[in-house]
Amino acid sequence: MSTTIQEAPLVPGLPLVGSLPQMIANFPKMLLETAPSFGDVVRLNIAGTTMMVVSHPEMLEYILRDNHHNYVHGEMAAGQIGRVTPRGLFMLEGQEWLLERRMMQPYFHRKYLGRIMELLDETIVEQMDKLERESSEGVIDLANAVKRITISVFLRAIFSMGMDEAQMNKIGEAFDIAMRGTARRNKIGYIVPRSVRLPLDRKIDDALKYLGEVVTGIIRDRRESGQQGDDMMGMLLAAHDDETGARLSDESLLDEVKTLILGGYDTTSGSLLWATHLLSHHPAVTERLVRESREVLSTGRVGYENYNDLHYARWVFNETMRQKPVAWAIPRESIAEDVLGGYRIPAKTTIMIPVVHIHHDARWWDQPEKFMPERWEDKFGGAKHRFAYLPFGMGPRVCLGEQFAVTEGTLLLARLFERFEIEPLSPTAQQVDYNFTMAPQSMPVRIRRREASLTPA
Ligand code: HEM
Repeated sequence: MSTTIQEAPLVPGLPLVGSLPQMIANFPKMLLETAPSFGDVVRLNIAGTTMMVVSHPEMLEYILRDNHHNYVHGEMAAGQIGRVTPRGLFMLEGQEWLLERRMMQPYFHRKYLGRIMELLDETIVEQMDKLERESSEGVIDLANAVKRITISVFLRAIFSMGMDEAQMNKIGEAFDIAMRGTARRNKIGYIVPRSVRLPLDRKIDDALKYLGEVVTGIIRDRRESGQQGDDMMGMLLAAHDDETGARLSDESLLDEVKTLILGGYDTTSGSLLWATHLLSHHPAVTERLVRESREVLSTGRVGYENYNDLHYARWVFNETMRQKPVAWAIPRESIAEDVLGGYRIPAKTTIMIPVVHIHHDARWWDQPEKFMPERWEDKFGGAKHRFAYLPFGMGPRVCLGEQFAVTEGTLLLARLFERFEIEPLSPTAQQVDYNFTMAPQSMPVRIRRREASLTPA
């Protein structure tokens, strides 16, 4: 019996431009509202180019894991990330990717993270002290503070040495310009070809040049000093393939350091802001978080041994990433033609996996709109399908830094809320930007030290 292969339903759009205006205006909203009403496999016309949206977890299991060789990161990811790290892990495919991933992966397991956990915690506490000094005014923009905190913590984890504040902020800013600017330029690319140089292109290139120079200088100093160091940079310098003995070249090292920063900075700061926003609407959750943090942190430094006691903080982080996944969609591109759920997937087609929609689909989640950290008492958050929770992707290309991100995010949440009472001035998230990651770009808050905070005032 032969089954007929159909074309997936087409989301109606305007003549010629199709769904481009909606994509430019608010892509996540479009994926949330449009995709589900047309089915689990739909087609979008983006100014004459077909894009597909696939949202059934079983199909995602197939795309991301079982037949992942046919679904590469592709043009969409390349346009976004390739300009920043052309040779980083994110951009590699096939054997090249496998070799480099095999070299780096062991250092991102929890066992190795234990080695930098105390460094992480120490840096977070330093940053909390700084935040306390700044917050004496009572009202601050938490988005700026959180960005500064996460870039400091992250750069310290990578390079261990303290950098001066101005340089760290400049690196953070350069990354913002590079990533958000590139995402914006890609969208404009549907109207003004990428070969035309716009003022935005110059801004992006200047930011990239600066980042390249800073990181190259650090690699050179480290090589010259002959000391590997017990930080992520040290891990990358030591990384080698057991089978072939291959190591990372300086060029790859530069791109991998940039890949780690771009993978880990904006995503973590965005998640922390969303957590703050959600907590402000859930006082009982905040109370329980504070109580647990106080108990665990009263023992002193958080290290490998007692980190696991921050159960509730971890649930809050997991639940935040379900409700507000900063990586709101994952792109893939088909190599050969395929069939999914009876629908034709043409070769060389961009496929969007609408993470934000899947995390809110009542078929897989009990009361998806409810912020319920308790659901994470179950290892999989009670999801009815393993591939219904994808904040870090799934399958062989799952986020390399997942363990690191959850550890850092959990620690940051515990330290931040143990020390401070934070009250956003607006009940709704402000200036939510969807270029690259989905996160508020501004969050004015009233902030004050908790009276019973453990830290000596
Ligand atoms: C909340 C924080 C984070 C989120 C939401 C996040 C999310 C993601 C997602 C969705 C992917 C793509 C998966 C795919 O294409 O299938 C990814 C890849 C990646 N992430 Fe993360 N990430 C986070 C933090 C980090 C951190 C802290 C690091 C580094 C320490 C990192 C390094 C990477 C790398 C290297 C890749 C590429 C992996 C590969 O292609 O093999 N990420 N991440």
